[in-house]
Amino acid sequence: MQEHLQNPIFKVLAQTVAQTQTEAYVIGGFVRDLFLNRPSKDIDIVVLGNGIEFAEKVGLHLGTKVAVFKNFGTAMLKYNDLEIEFVGARKESYRANSRKPIVENGTLEDDQLRRDFTINALAISLNPATYGSLVDPFAGLADLEHKLIRTPLDPEITFSDDPLRMMRAIRFATQLGFSIDETAIQAIKSQKERISIVSKERITDELNKIILAKQPSIGFNYLFDTGLLHLIFPQMANLYGVEIIRGKGHKDNFYHTLQVLDNICETSDDLWLRWAAILHDIAKPATKRFEEGHGWTFHGHEDKGARMVPQIFAQLKLPLNEKMKFVQKLVQLHLRPIVLAQEKVTDSAVRRLLFEAGEEIESLMLLCNADVTTKNEYKIKKYRNNFELVKQKLKDVEERDQLRNWQPPISGNDIMETFGLAAGREVGLLKNAIREAILEGEIKNSYEEAFHFMLEKAKELGLVQVVKP
Ligand code: CTP
Repeated sequence: MQEHLQNPIFKVLAQTVAQTQTEAYVIGGFVRDLFLNRPSKDIDIVVLGNGIEFAEKVGLHLGTKVAVFKNFGTAMLKYNDLEIEFVGARKESYRANSRKPIVENGTLEDDQLRRDFTINALAISLNPATYGSLVDPFAGLADLEHKLIRTPLDPEITFSDDPLRMMRAIRFATQLGFSIDETAIQAIKSQKERISIVSKERITDELNKIILAKQPSIGFNYLFDTGLLHLIFPQMANLYGVEIIRGKGHKDNFYHTLQVLDNICETSDDLWLRWAAILHDIAKPATKRFEEGHGWTFHGHEDKGARMVPQIFAQLKLPLNEKMKFVQKLVQLHLRPIVLAQEKVTDSAVRRLLFEAGEEIESLMLLCNADVTTKNEYKIKKYRNNFELVKQKLKDVEERDQLRNWQPPISGNDIMETFGLAAGREVGLLKNAIREAILEGEIKNSYEEAFHFMLEKAKELGLVQVVKP
C-alpha cells in the first residue's frame, strides 16, 4: 500500500505520529477510492486520541491554519489541493430522534464498526511499525471486489443510527455500479420511515448525486423497491403501474421515465435537463382518462406537469430560480417537437416552436429524442428522421428570422406614438397581429416589413397615422 502514500503530506502525518506517539490511520472514502482508481481530494484521518490536538501539531509542521469544529470533535486543514480532516476514533451511540451521536473515545475497530459501509471502513496505518498496511476487519476489500454495499454492523442498527445512510447506500450503488447486500435492503425497508429525521436538503443532495450518475435508473429502482421513493418523492412513485380496461393498457410511466432519464444521460451531464426528464410526464397519473373508442389519454399532462414543477421544487428544497423555470419550460413544451415530427414539418410550426423555446431549443430537442422509448424499429427510424428534418428547419428559420430571444420589432410605445393612442385594446391587437404575421412567415422579422404591415392592419381598424409637424 505504501506506493499509494506518495504525497508528501503522508510523511508529515507519519512524523506527527512518531512525535506524539499517537496512532493514526487514513480511513474512509480516500482509501476506498485508491482501490477504485478514483482520484480523491478529501483525506480522512482517524486518530486514537485527540483528533484536534493531532491536527494542530500537523498544522504547526506545515505552517498552515487549522479549522477546528469543537462541537463535532473534528479539525480540518488544507494542503495544496487536498482537504484533510481529523477525528478521534469513536464509539458512538445514538438517540432515537436525532442523527447527532453521543460520542466516547474508542479503538480503531470501534470506529470502523460505526462507519456506514465496509468499503468506507478500510484504513491504512500511518504508524511506524505497520506504516502502509491495510486494516480491514470487515472484509471491505472483498466487498469492493464483489461490488457489494454492506454495513460493518447489523444494517438495522447502522441505518437506524443515521438514516441518511439509506440514501448513501443507494447513491454509492448507483455511482459505482454496485449492488446492495440483501440484508441491507431488508433493513432499508424496515427503517425507511426514519428518513423523516433527515433534513430535506441532505436527502436531495444524495438524490442529485444519484441523478448525476451514469445510469440513475439503478438508484431509482432501489429507491422504489425499498419504499423510500414513496416517502421522499411520492409524485414520482405515483408514476408506477399499468391500468387495464377492456384489454387496453397504457405504458408504465415510472419505467418509461427511468428510460428517458438514462437516455438523456447519454447525451447530457446537465443536472437540470436530467430533472426535466424525471418530471416530463409527472402529471400523467393526474390527467389519465379512459375514453371509449379511443383508449388511454393524458390530455394536458404537459400543462399540469409544468404547474406541478414549482411545488415539487419547493418540497425537495431545489432552487426556485431560473433552473426551475428551465425545467418548467421543458416540461411544458416536451410534446411539441414530437407532434411536429409526426405531422408535416411546416416552416410556421417550426418558427412557433423556436419562438416559444428560445434559448432552450437544443435542450428541448435532446429531451424529445430521449423520450422516444418505443421498441418498434420502424417508428424509431421515422421519429429520428423527422427530428433531423425539424432540426434542419430550425437552423434555416433561425438564420433567417432570428426568433430566439425574440423582441417585437415594433414596440407598444412605437404603436402608441404612430397613431396617437393611449395604452389599450388596439395597441394589443396590433402587437399580436405583427407577431402572428412574423410567426406565420407572412412578413420578415424586420422593422421595415413590420411597420408596413402595421399601417395596413391599422387601416382595417380605422386608425390613422399621426403626422408629426
Ligand atoms: N461516514 C459514515 N456515515 C455517514 C457519512 C460518512 O459512516 N453518514 C463515514 C464513511 O466512513 C465515509 C467517511 O465518513 O467514508 C467520509 O464521509 P464523506 O466525505 O461524506 O463520504 P466519502 O466516503 O468520502 O464519499 P463522497 O466524497 O463520495 O461523499
